[in-house]
Amino acid sequence: MGIAPWRWLFALGLRLLFLVPAGVPVRSGDAGFSKAMDNVTVRQGHSAILRCAVDSRVTRVAWLNRSTILYTGNDKWSIDPRVVLVANTKSQYSIEIQNVNIYDDGSYTCSVQTDNQAKTSRVHLIVLVPPKILNISSDVTVNEGSTVDLQCLAIGRPEPTVTWKHLSGKTHRVVSDDEYLEITRISKEQSGEYECSAANDVSMPDVRRVKVTVNYPPYISDTRNTGASVGQKGTLFCSALAVPFAEFQWYKEDTRLANGLDGVRIENKDHISVLTFFNVSEKDYGNYTCVASNKLGNSNASVILYAGPGAVHNRSSSASAALTATCLWFSILYSLTKF
Ligand SMILES: *[C@@H]1O[C@H](CO)[C@@H](O)[C@H](O)[C@H]1NC(C)=O
Ligand SMILES: *[C@@H]1O[C@H](CO)[C@@H](O)[C@H](O)[C@H]1NC(C)=O
Ligand SMILES: *[C@@H]1O[C@H](CO)[C@@H](O)[C@H](O)[C@H]1NC(C)=O
Ligand SMILES: *[C@@H]1O[C@H](CO)[C@@H](O)[C@H](O)[C@H]1NC(C)=O
Ligand SMILES: *[C@@H]1O[C@H](CO)[C@@H](O)[C@H](O)[C@H]1NC(C)=O
Ligand SMILES: *[C@@H]1O[C@H](CO)[C@@H](O)[C@H](O)[C@H]1NC(C)=O
Ligand SMILES: *[C@@H]1O[C@H](CO)[C@@H](O)[C@H](O)[C@H]1NC(C)=O
Repeated sequence: MGIAPWRWLFALGLRLLFLVPAGVPVRSGDAGFSKAMDNVTVRQGHSAILRCAVDSRVTRVAWLNRSTILYTGNDKWSIDPRVVLVANTKSQYSIEIQNVNIYDDGSYTCSVQTDNQAKTSRVHLIVLVPPKILNISSDVTVNEGSTVDLQCLAIGRPEPTVTWKHLSGKTHRVVSDDEYLEITRISKEQSGEYECSAANDVSMPDVRRVKVTVNYPPYISDTRNTGASVGQKGTLFCSALAVPFAEFQWYKEDTRLANGLDGVRIENKDHISVLTFFNVSEKDYGNYTCVASNKLGNSNASVILYAGPGAVHNRSSSASAALTATCLWFSILYSLTKF
């Protein structure tokens, strides 16, 4: 019921104005109304002015959004408060659309009646929208060897170009140049931050990150055989890389050592385990096994405590950086346990 008067008015308006709704091409070449109007490009949130040149012979004027009348003369038909009349003079009939949004994008028609003839001219309002990432995959944890699918859905106008980069250390390597990134048989080197960037020329790219954690079983990266004299303090350590961090156990032959018993202490921190003998005796010398395990597996290595000066000797594998870090922590720990 409520719609009927509107429809009637609309139909009447069209008839009064001899309006030809959208779908009819711009008529260029008509005297006094010949120039094809330029398209209007405006950023989302800004205002657009749609100008229509008229002359003294013009008797009626109107602006339409697609086939909907916005204004006829000074009468506003649109209920949208963002649409305002800015000029209705002998030479110009212009409206303004404030706070433009993406839905305003499209073709607008200026319709004029001259000498009982209707003429229309069309202008395209092109709305520019900064890139925005609408939806991006969450941080994910997977086991080594599985497949990871990441997606990054972005909007913007013009359509943003989306890229994925893997951030590892200082290198940012592009790994996909669309919204989707599939990593098959992921390795531990492929863990870390992935950055999605959505870019168009309207403004700065929108950038978001996803963290990919790759679980892998421990491998023992470092051990050292150590000398200690009877009555002195002795220490053995074992370092294992693993995600999640490994849990450590120490064995002598088949006997598992327990923290705090038999004059030994076991301390674990991140990827390192330290076995300390407070007061080394002859029976302590020998071959120890460090076992590192997490839910994905385990690995072991043997470490020897031998009779000799309390210096650190030998290394079973040379991961220098890890070793330096280890030594630092080791010496801090050592100085703490002196007291
Ligand atoms: C105006 O924009 C439309 C649609 O994007 C395009 O087809 C037309 O060529 C443009 N006209 C001018 C004069 O730039
Ligand atoms: C133009 O028409 C479209 C589609 O009906 C609508 O979403 C938009 O809000 C209109 N814009 C103006 C300024 O009338
Ligand atoms: C994001 O995408 C996921 C998967 O396609 C979907 O389940 C989720 O509802 C989306 N979230 C939003 C806010 O669109
Ligand atoms: C170390 O052990 C020996 C033999 O058990 C004992 O005589 C000595 O006092 C201990 N030294 C320390 C510092 O506890
Ligand atoms: C220590 O023990 C392991 C296994 O228990 C063995 O493979 C290794 O050869 C031993 N090392 C020494 C120096 O005896
Ligand atoms: C150490 O690893 C070997 C295989 O590499 C395994 O046979 C052995 O049982 C392990 N030892 C311990 C104490 O876990
Ligand atoms: C490391 O220790 C092994 C025995 O465990 C020995 O054969 C080798 O010479 C040592 N290497 C160095 C550099 O001291």
